[in-house]
Amino acid sequence: MEIAAYQGMFIFAYMAAGKIIIAIDGYSSCGKSTLAKALAARLGYNYIDSGAMYRAITLYFLRNGLSYNDPAQVIDALANISLSFAFNEATKSSDMCLNDEDVSIPIRDMLVSDKVSEVAAIKEIRAFAVGQQKRMGRKKGIVMDGRDIGTVVFPDAELKIFMTADPAVRVMRRFKEMYATNPNITMEDVRHNLELRDYIDSTREESPLRQAADAILLDNSGMTREEQLDRVLAWVTERTGKVEQL
Ligand code: CDP
Repeated sequence: MEIAAYQGMFIFAYMAAGKIIIAIDGYSSCGKSTLAKALAARLGYNYIDSGAMYRAITLYFLRNGLSYNDPAQVIDALANISLSFAFNEATKSSDMCLNDEDVSIPIRDMLVSDKVSEVAAIKEIRAFAVGQQKRMGRKKGIVMDGRDIGTVVFPDAELKIFMTADPAVRVMRRFKEMYATNPNITMEDVRHNLELRDYIDSTREESPLRQAADAILLDNSGMTREEQLDRVLAWVTERTGKVEQL
């Protein structure tokens, strides 16, 4: 083997070895995806929004008039669902694809938000999504956010963060986001949806939302995006030994 090729392999192995898995869990709308996206961009990691996968599955049930409470229909639906992510150069993030269709916009609709936590509580649906999520982390170098990432999907993740924020701050953030595309939305609709989802997510039998024993708690109520990113990059440095540019 040529020396240059050998050196290239060595450098690649060194870089891969330095990569870690970052698991971010927490309540609805506390800024997990904003932080996860920024981290992935800074570190050159893949970002995976696991909630988008449950949202895409929910969209499939709604569009096809299927009942997620009927086990036979669930098995049938899962056999016909293919989930994938397509990197979007313009937004620098991945679009969620359901059977090769980009569904990034419809999965944010309130109709999906209203049902997604019930769908995500179903054992077979979780097994389907979690299996795919675990495979995505095989090579490390991944930031994944959700509800059970540090507890179930990547229990051995090198860095686990459990995010929270003041409920009023969370409602306001999500309201602003949704109002941009749906001026009919009210603060009350948003508050009700967040409270309901947090309740279902925290009390369900299958992989309930909870802080992993080794997760760091991050309350970002009074923090700017830059402040939270800097704080987390310092935690990444502690774990990789590599100084990340602040
Ligand atoms: O609205 P937000 O961005 O906070 O939620 P999301 O990440 O899009 O997730 C939507 C819903 O999917 C959650 O309310 C959970 O019911 C479910 N979910 C889950 O059960 N497990 C995950 N790992 C991610 C999301």
